Amino acid sequence: MPATITAISHFLPSDIIDNSYFEKYLDTSDEWIIARTGIKERRFLKEGATSDLIVPAAQKLFKDYNINPEEIDTIIVATVTPDHMFPNTAAVVQHKLGMKNVWGFDISAACSGFLFALRTACSLVESGTSKKVLLCGADKMTSIMDLNDRATAVLFGDGAGVCLIEMSDDPNMGLIDHILHIDGDGGRYLKQIAGGSFKPASHETVDNKEHYIFQDGQNVFKAAVKGMADVSVEIMERNNLTHEDIAYLVPHQANLRIISATADRMGLNPEKVMINIQKFGNTTAATIPICLSEWYSQGKIKKGDNIVLSGFGAGFTWGAILLRWNMNQRGLI
Ligand code: COA
Repeated sequence: MPATITAISHFLPSDIIDNSYFEKYLDTSDEWIIARTGIKERRFLKEGATSDLIVPAAQKLFKDYNINPEEIDTIIVATVTPDHMFPNTAAVVQHKLGMKNVWGFDISAACSGFLFALRTACSLVESGTSKKVLLCGADKMTSIMDLNDRATAVLFGDGAGVCLIEMSDDPNMGLIDHILHIDGDGGRYLKQIAGGSFKPASHETVDNKEHYIFQDGQNVFKAAVKGMADVSVEIMERNNLTHEDIAYLVPHQANLRIISATADRMGLNPEKVMINIQKFGNTTAATIPICLSEWYSQGKIKKGDNIVLSGFGAGFTWGAILLRWNMNQRGLI
């Protein structure tokens, strides 16, 4: 029996930063940002850490679905912006939510973090190790962004998506298939150079801005277009699904052009592609659960829908997951 998502929620900070914010002090324009990325605005968390994005999302989840947090036995946090290198953010979240009888850990897979964590959470449930997993995809990207670098500052935002993973009550619904990859050769194109054991923090690393996101955009773009489209088509083909069988593609939201290329290769009409990059930018591990949560709360996902989740990120990490949705239509929360 597969495991499945049984509750979903998200949180976005209230501070909206539109493209005109950057036009005031960077050599950029609203037109360039929209044409090259599709982003119009993003949310910045002014105070607090990644756990402060997760906690309100989790509290909303508990309230909306009448979940007793005491019943949750595992917390998994996908993030590249943990509150600390250690302790893990899962422990910080546990403490802030006052949860008991729970263990947990963080997963680092950048923009593929939610996919990797979803596969892990479902495997824990399917093996009987866990019964209820609080699965969180969250990043405070502003904590590692150089706001003076126009090549990266305009791309990212802060946000969190959380869901509950439990055993499905139907053998044909839940997480049906996955294709996940890593290739460390791509590490040179997208990384946080310093701050780890390879290059510990020093005055020099701070002066050289090596704690911020480093990205060779063009090389990441080329790899992402191919990687995301390849796995998305592969997961359709090996499950004998045509474009008509797919209710939604939920792509990682890094660039509208990457999303369109993936949807085109899958033969999907635009209405079958979840896109909110224009409102929130790239929130790294949070983009996919935020999309799912938004669409579900608007009553747009039905029980039995085939949904392909697809992502690409630093590592390189990439992959696709086929979900058959197993929650009833609830309309607006
Ligand atoms: N405003 C105006 N010009 C900008 C700019 C900005 N915000 N950012 C970069 N430019 C300039 C560059 O300096 C360059 O100028 P030049 O031609 O004089 O050298 C020009 O625009 C083209 O830069 P380039 O990097 O080739 O642009 P691009 O079309 O590749 O778009 C990205 C840049 C970052 C939007 C794009 O490469 C991208 O989305 N990459 C993948 C991101 C991703 O998927 N990440 C993985 C998950 S995090």
